[in-house]
Amino acid sequence: MLRGAATAGRPGRLAPPLTRRRNVAKDGTASLSAALAAGVLAGGLLAVQPEVSALDNGVARTPPMGWNSWNTFGCDISESLIKQIADAVVGSGMRDLGYTYVVVDDCWMSSTRDSAGNLQADATRFPSGMKALGDHLHARGLKFGIYQAPLDKTCAQYFGSHPGATGARGHEAQDARRFAAWGVDYLKYDWCSPSGTIDDQVRTFTKMRDALAATGRPILYSINSNSVHDKTGPRRDWGDVANIWRTTEDITNTWDTGQTNGYPMGIRNIVDVNVPLASYARPGAFNDPDMMEVGRGGMTDTEMRSHFALWAMMASPLIAGNDVRNMDAATQAILKNQNLIAVNQDPLGLQATQIGDDGTRRVLAKRLSDGDVAVALFNQGASTTTVSTTASAIGLSGGSFTLRDAWTNATSTGSGAISADVPSHGTVVYRVSG
Ligand code: GLA
Repeated sequence: MLRGAATAGRPGRLAPPLTRRRNVAKDGTASLSAALAAGVLAGGLLAVQPEVSALDNGVARTPPMGWNSWNTFGCDISESLIKQIADAVVGSGMRDLGYTYVVVDDCWMSSTRDSAGNLQADATRFPSGMKALGDHLHARGLKFGIYQAPLDKTCAQYFGSHPGATGARGHEAQDARRFAAWGVDYLKYDWCSPSGTIDDQVRTFTKMRDALAATGRPILYSINSNSVHDKTGPRRDWGDVANIWRTTEDITNTWDTGQTNGYPMGIRNIVDVNVPLASYARPGAFNDPDMMEVGRGGMTDTEMRSHFALWAMMASPLIAGNDVRNMDAATQAILKNQNLIAVNQDPLGLQATQIGDDGTRRVLAKRLSDGDVAVALFNQGASTTTVSTTASAIGLSGGSFTLRDAWTNATSTGSGAISADVPSHGTVVYRVSG
């Protein structure tokens, strides 16, 4: 189903958050241990890896980390803004924690190509040009990301909030060469059209994959097949086509918008779509549940922490979308949580599998390269509740276990019980060692 009225409200995409419509959680009457058992049998931690191999372009061996302009700034971007952001990413310590990609989203481009058909920067917003911006980022130890669309128009052009029709159709090789010449390290390639079947999308996205490969420059390839389109993102394993692929419509800074997969998506709505796709994740290929809303208001600190913890557990790209020039202490503590970054960046590249869900209490587990298992105890209900699992349910054996709480850093030892009182919409994460 395509949007009608919803589409009309989309152009600015900077509208204030929707009025919160909290789902009143059902009382979890089902036994969690039964749910856990069912989840484990249904293909938990030992899920078979997909047969399709990931892109062999050497990048995204772990989920990419960085910052993207869209969530906070929309079309209101410029080279001076991006330079200020770059300084903040470095100055805040985020770069050194792994946030290296600085992605310039839609609206950087001039409304016309040059006489040779080349893309060019918007001369007012980016007077020094995109190559100079790439050099600036590289000189600061950052990587350069850029946005383009495969058909006629970028998403902002489609919605009339940016002029022109400078999409890549018929210019794929030329655009890829231009990006490589500008020093681009990351391409976000956004369908943004109701037209085309999933097979058309696969063919068209593959064309740019091959064009990027032909440049010889390793460029992380990020695709979105869902904008104003039938939601094809969650329908296949796109790891043969791209390094990361969006699984949902656009995120907003709201916990729950009531959408299944429509514009705009709240945090828990995205989790519902993305969790079942766990088996697709592997080094070089990751589900992308969209850029983060941490630090953008519209949610409680508990919800912001849950958002980050769940993205970390789902081996999601950690692309900050807030104004990193002005971050409060809570936002910094979330985005710079080294325990969760380590879980996200684990070299096995596994996405957590859900091993329990009784409608209120959800348990996710992610096997890590040193034999530890990260476990998330997520309460999507309306009041505090105890969420529990066991070491054996998350695939560990033995008689004594150490649990490190990712938020408090406190450790405890026990003989296999894993449990926490979790506030409404909260997520407790333990790293469990056997
Ligand atoms: C789509 C994408 C967003 C953003 C905008 C830009 O909506 O899903 O992430 O790139 O386009 O116009």
